[in-house]
Amino acid sequence: MAKLDGKVCMVTGGAGSLGLAAARLFIAEGAKVTLVDLESAGPDKAAAQLGDGSAAAIAGDVTRAADVRNFVAATVARWGKIDVDATAYLNETIPLGRHGRPDEIARTVLYLASDDSSFTTGATLMLDGGMSA
Ligand SMILES: NC(=O)c1ccc[n+]([C@@H]2O[C@H](COP(=O)([O-])OP(=O)(O)OC[C@H]3O[C@@H](n4cnc5c(N)ncnc54)[C@H](O)[C@@H]3O)[C@@H](O)[C@H]2O)c1
Repeated sequence: MAKLDGKVCMVTGGAGSLGLAAARLFIAEGAKVTLVDLESAGPDKAAAQLGDGSAAAIAGDVTRAADVRNFVAATVARWGKIDVDATAYLNETIPLGRHGRPDEIARTVLYLASDDSSFTTGATLMLDGGMSA
């Protein structure tokens, strides 16, 4: 049995590289998916790439409450329910429970770029909230 048989997943940033890859995998695992993305990112085109009637698309901005209400309602209208908000789901897979903030990345790059790392050579520093630990 596929891992997401009968599940409905809403993927925000769904026309982007991570979102689209997650949507493709979710559909392969039996899910119905709504891709949410900014109009300019072309969520319709992205959904069309997924073929076979398992993907719907809606334009929306996650920072606008009215858009969020609209794409949640549209997803329920299209598929009858929502089981998985992929952004929240992806956060659950990161041991620290969230994505990294830009300032956290910038501070680490500053460390590598500055003399603070003067005795650090050839190291790979993971900034992944513990995913590779
Ligand atoms: N911190 C981490 O561990 C980590 C790891 C990998 C990627 N990322 C981040 O995850 C994000 C996704 O990566 P990606 O490679 O898929 O990026 P991407 O640029 O390909 O996709 C991001 C998508 O989000 C959409 N988007 C942006 N603002 C939006 C908004 N307000 N409402 C709705 N959609 C919006 C964009 O239009 C785009 O399609 C990026 O911000 C990336 O930096 C973080």
